[in-house]
Amino acid sequence: MSARTKTRQIEFGDFQTPTVLARRLTNLLSQQGISPSSLIEPTCGVGNLALAALDRFPTVRDAFCFDIEQHYIDAVRARLRAKPHTADIRVSQGDFFEMDWLSLVRELPEPVLVIGNPPWVTNSCLGGLDSSNLPQKSNFKGYRGLDAITGKGNFDISEWMLIRLLHSLEGRQATLAMLCKTAVARKVLIYAWKNRLSLESSAIYGIDAATHFGAAVDACFLVSSFSPEAHSMDALIYDDITGVSATRTIGYRDNQLVAEIDLYERWKHLQGGQAYRWRSGVKHDSAKVMEFIRFGTHYMNGLGEIVDLEPEHVFPLLKSSDVANGAHNRPRRWLLVTQQSVGADTSHLQRNAPRVWQYLTSHAETLDARRSAIYKNRPRFAIFGIGDYSFSPYKVAISSLYKKLLLRVVGSYEEKPILLDDTLNLIPCRTQAEAERLASLLNSEIARQFFQSLIFWDSKRPITIELLNRLDIKKLAREIGAFSRFSERSPQRELALDPPDGPGNP
Ligand SMILES: C[S@@+](CC[C@H](N)C(=O)[O-])C[C@H]1O[C@@H](n2cnc3c(N)ncnc32)[C@H](O)[C@@H]1O
Repeated sequence: MSARTKTRQIEFGDFQTPTVLARRLTNLLSQQGISPSSLIEPTCGVGNLALAALDRFPTVRDAFCFDIEQHYIDAVRARLRAKPHTADIRVSQGDFFEMDWLSLVRELPEPVLVIGNPPWVTNSCLGGLDSSNLPQKSNFKGYRGLDAITGKGNFDISEWMLIRLLHSLEGRQATLAMLCKTAVARKVLIYAWKNRLSLESSAIYGIDAATHFGAAVDACFLVSSFSPEAHSMDALIYDDITGVSATRTIGYRDNQLVAEIDLYERWKHLQGGQAYRWRSGVKHDSAKVMEFIRFGTHYMNGLGEIVDLEPEHVFPLLKSSDVANGAHNRPRRWLLVTQQSVGADTSHLQRNAPRVWQYLTSHAETLDARRSAIYKNRPRFAIFGIGDYSFSPYKVAISSLYKKLLLRVVGSYEEKPILLDDTLNLIPCRTQAEAERLASLLNSEIARQFFQSLIFWDSKRPITIELLNRLDIKKLAREIGAFSRFSERSPQRELALDPPDGPGNP
């Protein structure tokens, strides 16, 4: 394939659904009791899904197939001539973004089935290709809540397409059945649930995108059925398209996406206050300059340079892998710390730590070129995720990257607090006893189930600060029956958990 063809394939998401998969998907729909009178394939390509659906559903009286590429339209027409169907089938070239889906669907006999596999490309990827295969910006504002989903910069164009189709099916007897990235399916469902669209049921069936499309991405078949009076806010999750038994139910509860409804209903009362606040580790965006391996009293940076620095500015550092591998008591790396708190002045280093200052200025070109906007208009050589909490002698830590709920106690090393990088989340503690008590609470089965009810493990960073802060540790302690032990023995008043009716406990 030439480079130009490859680029075009990416731009238009031109990865045709294999016939064998198309047949399995339409069989699955049929097993679920779907029996449409009309059919739409909005981005039909060579027509594998459309033809499989026409074969599987002889009930279809009206069918529409569209694609932006005329040569695909010609191919579908040729296939239909070779194998005629009884339905009235119209196959036309058309740009998804220009179509009036609402008017089209309004004219169709119910139940309506919209089946397809829209392009799996993101707007920023299209931007890089200088492509115009995008919705017009002005249309973005048209739907309530759409900004919340698409306004965050990078988004999948299929997300936009599916939301548009949802609106065309609202209030009808209809089913939307689409191959898409699993993350897109979830965003589309959140949109439908937030906007109280008339969904009767939804299911997400995992598909093996590597086998069928050669794509290393979590993908699925999203099937959502509409019915005029319905307002379901649940979706069954199946590992694969055999659809034998659902592994769990996700849904929308209390204005949030829930990963396991059963567990959420059981433990939702543990949400709430913040006796403890989770923080994230230090962010500096220049590991080669700011991180070191230590040799005696000297440090070697990631460029292989041996460096002499004032030791009071260098701290032991842990990364996610150290915490996950149980190497959290023996830090292998050291971090140059330029500030004690976010935004603090750094120029005093010139006087107070001349070797550090000299080192920083010799690498100023790299540090000044750090791309993240957070460094703009900040003191030179600034870092982030730094504050009193970074220097607490003990911490409870968990990686935001690892697909594991495992909390560790991190202490000090050579009388210096161990710092954590920004892939780790932490609660600062004043004593080892406090950190151990917190870790044992947070590693309990109840805490695990609480977090499990909210975590989507296929996310890039499944364990976020926001998620961790949802759990009220006081309520958890009470639930476990460890509350009194917890509060009585904790030596630090401000970090102790107050007794139920004690001061500061509203
Ligand atoms: C992932 S392929 C899937 C094709 C077909 N639905 C299938 O499942 O085999 C995506 C299709 O979307 C078409 N497409 C891309 N952008 C489009 C647009 N703006 N309007 C209509 N079709 C488009 C491409 O030409 C391509 O055939």
